[in-house]
Amino acid sequence: MCGIVGYIGDDQAAPFLLSGLEKLEYRGYDSAGVAVYNGTSLQVVKAKGRLKILSDMINGGKDVLGTVGIGHTRWATHGKPSDINSHPQVSDSGKFAVVHNGIIENYLALKDLLIQKGINFVSETDTEVVAQLLEYYYKGDILDAVIKVINKVEGSYALGIICEDNPDQIIAVRKDSPLIVGLGKGENFIASDIPAILSKTRDIYRLNDNEIAILKKESVMIYNTDKEIIPKEPCHIDWDISAAEKGGYQHFMAKEIMEQPKAVRDTISPRIQDGKIVLDNITLTAEQIKGFSKIFILACGSAYHVGMVAKYILEKFARIPVEVDVASEFRYRHPIIDDKVLVLVISQSGETADTLAALREAKKLGARTLSIVNVVGSSIANDSDDVIYTWAGPEIAVATTKAYSTQLAVIYLLAIYFADLLGNLSKEDYAYYVSQLQELPDKIAEILSNKEHIQFLASQFFNVKDVFFIGRNLDYAMSLEGSLKLKEISYIHSDAYAAGELKHGTISLVEDGTLVVALATQNKLFDKMMSNVKEVKARGAVVLGLTTEKNTKIEQEADHTLYIPEMCEMMLPSLAVVPLQLFAYYVASMKGCDIDKPRNLAKSVTVE
Ligand code: F6R
Repeated sequence: MCGIVGYIGDDQAAPFLLSGLEKLEYRGYDSAGVAVYNGTSLQVVKAKGRLKILSDMINGGKDVLGTVGIGHTRWATHGKPSDINSHPQVSDSGKFAVVHNGIIENYLALKDLLIQKGINFVSETDTEVVAQLLEYYYKGDILDAVIKVINKVEGSYALGIICEDNPDQIIAVRKDSPLIVGLGKGENFIASDIPAILSKTRDIYRLNDNEIAILKKESVMIYNTDKEIIPKEPCHIDWDISAAEKGGYQHFMAKEIMEQPKAVRDTISPRIQDGKIVLDNITLTAEQIKGFSKIFILACGSAYHVGMVAKYILEKFARIPVEVDVASEFRYRHPIIDDKVLVLVISQSGETADTLAALREAKKLGARTLSIVNVVGSSIANDSDDVIYTWAGPEIAVATTKAYSTQLAVIYLLAIYFADLLGNLSKEDYAYYVSQLQELPDKIAEILSNKEHIQFLASQFFNVKDVFFIGRNLDYAMSLEGSLKLKEISYIHSDAYAAGELKHGTISLVEDGTLVVALATQNKLFDKMMSNVKEVKARGAVVLGLTTEKNTKIEQEADHTLYIPEMCEMMLPSLAVVPLQLFAYYVASMKGCDIDKPRNLAKSVTVE
């Protein structure tokens, strides 16, 4: 939700903190701040608004001198965006400065307790409680104080801490929020995410829950809450640095849309060997798969929309009933789960708090868990019985594109793999679906090479007020994603409906000029869709139809048409999503929206 960074070494900290925060701005961008030890005390500068405001205030970092510091970019949860609520938060005497990502759930009770003891609070944040508690418990040993604090607070946190009395160190600790330690030569770093430190080092420690890192210039020691040293293996990041930068595109979203053929290929190719799908890193046995009575899919947002597609695909291929649930709903509704249930969790970041909580609930109830995750070593990956990684590379734009496409690709792999094990596919059908899967990256590339028509259509519609996306079955699942993409980055109101459902109420909103995007890629439902198109046209709608190349008869009904290449129907969602992403992107661009950082949103939602 928020981004944190820290630096300790011989260089000036502030310029690095600013550049690291720039890479983390996707995590939140309503305020930013830094705290640097200036040789005598902690200098804290923070401000409401984009990072640029902070950067200008401190002259690109040159006005804040010191070689140890922490920084923060915020997505407000407790307390509105304001200078005072920005991080770092400091303790009463100014001895401790803290940056925090997460939510301290019991902060009100702790705050009351500290106020009774005469401690002054200045902000509305939960984080200030951590800074004040640290000072309250500090009796000369900072590790002792940190342990006491984490034993006291409930909720989620990634914390970066500096203390005036210990200016040669940064303390980092996490629970249920991501935090890494970057290992340099004569300098060390902390960050919420890898891109922030990639220009400095590729060797990192991933902190586990309640591991406390003490970073000094020349060393990093990791302790548990019993003050025992924990041996830890560094992991090496081999991402191409350009993968975390814009590479000539105006926005990360454009770059990531264009990267989809590669991302999907990277996800599929290593898992198809000699025409066979090989998922040898999962421990699920054929016997276990045969024994599943149900599959639950849990996810949020676009990942949930992947789940909606997956329901159709897995039910068709594996013939196992599938239920898809928004992760934030699942755990509060007494779901019926036992060890015959496979819980499939989908998440790009692997850190989404709602999804992580749902996964843990499912495990508690006895389910077998399998996650589809993009970030290696993330909390969801760590907590699942099995994980299949989507090799999409870093996704920076807040609106997901390539992660969505790679998640779908994994669903196809899994569906065909399960169907084969369960004896649901003939040899010929198996070979056909595998070969279709292998063709997917090229078909996506084909759509991307014809994006000008989509750009033209965006220019016709970027001023509309309301849009409806309609479709049936798989096309309904795609409508959900098309609608979300458009509304989240362009701020145009849009809604997705199962096409047959529109007439049960919502059609009353259709009037002259309302844009209806009608998805009709499924042959057996094409005529039914055309009836629904006629219904909305009769009420004045302008219809943008989306179908496959051979279905040219759509032009008899739709005002405008987008075509995607032919392929097996089950995989058409992977093609249909691409023009919908491009349409949303161009509309938002023509409206002058902040595409990579839409208002009120953050990339990784690590609060419930
Ligand atoms: C929308 C979008 C979000 C995420 C959702 C889940 O474009 O990106 O809806 O899909 O917040 O995030 P992850 O996949 O990281 O769990």
